[in-house]
Amino acid sequence: MTTGWSLYVIILVVLNIVATTWLLWWTARKRKSDGSTAETTGHVWDGDLTEYNKPLPKWWIILFYLTIFYSIGYLAWYPGMGNFAGTSGWSSAKEHDADKADADARLAQAYGKFDGMAIDQIAKDPDALAFGSRLYANHCAMCHGSDARGAKGFPNLTDNDWQWGGSPDEILTTILHGRQAAMPPLEAVLGGDVGVTEVSAYVQSLSGMKTDPALAAAGQARFAVCAACHGPDGKGNPALGAPNLTDDIWLYASDFDTIGTGIRMGRNGMMPAHLPIIGETRTRIAAAYVWSLSHGDKAAATAP
Ligand code: HEC
Ligand code: HEC
Repeated sequence: MTTGWSLYVIILVVLNIVATTWLLWWTARKRKSDGSTAETTGHVWDGDLTEYNKPLPKWWIILFYLTIFYSIGYLAWYPGMGNFAGTSGWSSAKEHDADKADADARLAQAYGKFDGMAIDQIAKDPDALAFGSRLYANHCAMCHGSDARGAKGFPNLTDNDWQWGGSPDEILTTILHGRQAAMPPLEAVLGGDVGVTEVSAYVQSLSGMKTDPALAAAGQARFAVCAACHGPDGKGNPALGAPNLTDDIWLYASDFDTIGTGIRMGRNGMMPAHLPIIGETRTRIAAAYVWSLSHGDKAAATAP
């Protein structure tokens, strides 16, 4: 907070406290000068129904003073007066850090034994899987879907098709450190619209879709540009995250427009690194859960 805002807050708070105190003192004083006879407001209904202006009862006023007193103590003890940090040293950030350290310690006690263990091994532990599925719901489902089947641009994690490699280590690396796909815009390289159309037809033909054979043949001649990443036969390259174009599994979609848009504009899907967000232990356990989704039978067969 800048000094200006800090002063603004402090002045408002002090003014409020002074004003309520004064209001209380003023109403209480009035009561004394009036003695026992209560005054009326002057409002009269139905000829003889008058409205009293009774002073507040004494116990209530005392209670009021006590709350004011309490609020001053509170503002001295906790932060509240602009930038003044309070004498207790308490801050929400410190409390959060302490809570987190506490939770991390309990996590390390319960799940620390999995640190460094391969995720296909962790996947054999039903406790770890149950925890992993909760971690998945909190940290992954918003992108990959609650059933982990993904959506356009977000890969399905339940099939056995891995853009970035499907070994336990590769999947763990993907989740720990994130992945950044980099397919550049290629329309110019392909000689414009015609080139994009031809190569899109060829891509469709790779997975056995019906396309114009003449277009696809022309596209095949241009595929050298793509082969650098997707491989000469279009089977992809997990080291670059270049998907296999010969299966019928699509990260984006298989229609002509979607394929063409990807070639024109490029594709830059990004999986965020989770090590900085949820730490090593949680990431490993979430990864083990994800592993189990596509290796359910194997995991179950070897489970204790
Ligand atoms: C902000 C969205 C987002 C979140 C959150 C997210 N992911 Fe991803 N994830 C992606 C995207 C997008 C990709 C595809 C990246 C690409 O295009 O190469 C991806 C890719 C992956 C892959 C690689 C799939 C393959 O075929 O190689 C795995 C595994 C994965 N995510 C697991 C997880 C797990 C586990 C979590 C939770 C701990 C998670 N993701 C959280 C967006 C997300
Ligand atoms: C520099 C490497 C590179 C080159 C060159 C490249 N790609 Fe890609 N391509 C990728 C990567 C990486 C992805 C994944 C993008 C993502 O995850 O967002 C991708 C994705 C795709 C997809 C989407 C697949 C799906 O499942 O939805 C298609 C289609 C595609 N590329 C076709 C091509 C064609 C056709 C060419 C040649 C004109 C080409 N690519 C050239 C790296 C490359």
